[in-house]
Amino acid sequence: MDKQDIRDLRNWHRDAAIRSKTAGFDIVYVYATHDLSIAQQFLEKRKNDRIDEYGGSLENRARLLRELIEDTKDAVGDRCAVAVRIAADELMGDAGLTHDGEARDVIAMLAELPDLWDVNISTWPNDSQTSRFAKEGFQEQYTSFVKSLTTKPVVGVGRFTSPDTMVSQIRRGILDFIGAARPSIADPFLPKKIEEGRIDDIRECIGCNMCVSSDYTSTNLRCTQNPTMGRNGDAAGTLKSSRRKSRKDRFSSSAPGRRDSRQLLLRHVGASKCILPKRRPNSADA
Ligand SMILES: Cc1cc2nc3c(=O)[nH]c(=O)nc-3n(C[C@H](O)[C@H](O)[C@H](O)COP(=O)(O)O)c2cc1C
Ligand code: SF4
Repeated sequence: MDKQDIRDLRNWHRDAAIRSKTAGFDIVYVYATHDLSIAQQFLEKRKNDRIDEYGGSLENRARLLRELIEDTKDAVGDRCAVAVRIAADELMGDAGLTHDGEARDVIAMLAELPDLWDVNISTWPNDSQTSRFAKEGFQEQYTSFVKSLTTKPVVGVGRFTSPDTMVSQIRRGILDFIGAARPSIADPFLPKKIEEGRIDDIRECIGCNMCVSSDYTSTNLRCTQNPTMGRNGDAAGTLKSSRRKSRKDRFSSSAPGRRDSRQLLLRHVGASKCILPKRRPNSADA
């Protein structure tokens, strides 16, 4: 990027912030995580080999992020809060931003500039880890340092589904706000249910990442725990089962394991009849 490219980027970012304000948003983000934004890539010494004032020292590599935050604050004034979402660690040691190295130093450098710090681990596969490999609150060891560097509120994520874990994070001074992406997909009424003490009613995210695979394949977002996902408004969470009572559904299968397929279909969809085509002899039968 030459200097004009950087000026263009800053202007586009500024314009987007103004559009967000006009649209009525309360918080506007500056984004520097998941290795998906130029602001983060400027921070990374493995990617930033510039020899001007945007490269070299960490202060220089953080210049663009600082400018984007300042531009955004200037654009939205007191109407919106300006949050920074930043990678507190990239889980690649010194080759990347680390919670006890350069991520920490950048956050210390910009500590009071944003209105809210939103911290996570980068890239996305590290951030949205499945329950097979990461337990609830798994990001704590990488993000807990942030509150010691700033007086601004800090929000973090980590597949929080249990109110006890959430309260523990707040009470122990790890976070000020609980972020919940997948838990809110599985149950958009999560905060309300906690507020009303309806803990047993929470439809818990199981960390299977079907939702993530939808995003990766550019298909409609789906959730294994919440078939009403995407149906906003009154319908959310209130849909009845679509299984038919008559059990007259009919399925056909020509797969090699015909009998197995039939059993599977019967078991999973409750169909009473499966139509399987006659088997054709093949060489394996000889
Ligand atoms: C389907 C899906 C889409 C996401 N899209 C974004 C996105 O556009 N921007 C972003 O910063 N994070 C995005 N994330 C990451 C989440 O904001 C969050 O950091 C991550 O899922 C870990 O939090 P969780 O354990 O509460 O889900 C997405 C996550 C999911 C599951
Ligand atoms: S598909 Fe649903 S249950 Fe699975 S990880 Fe995503 S939100 Fe959680």
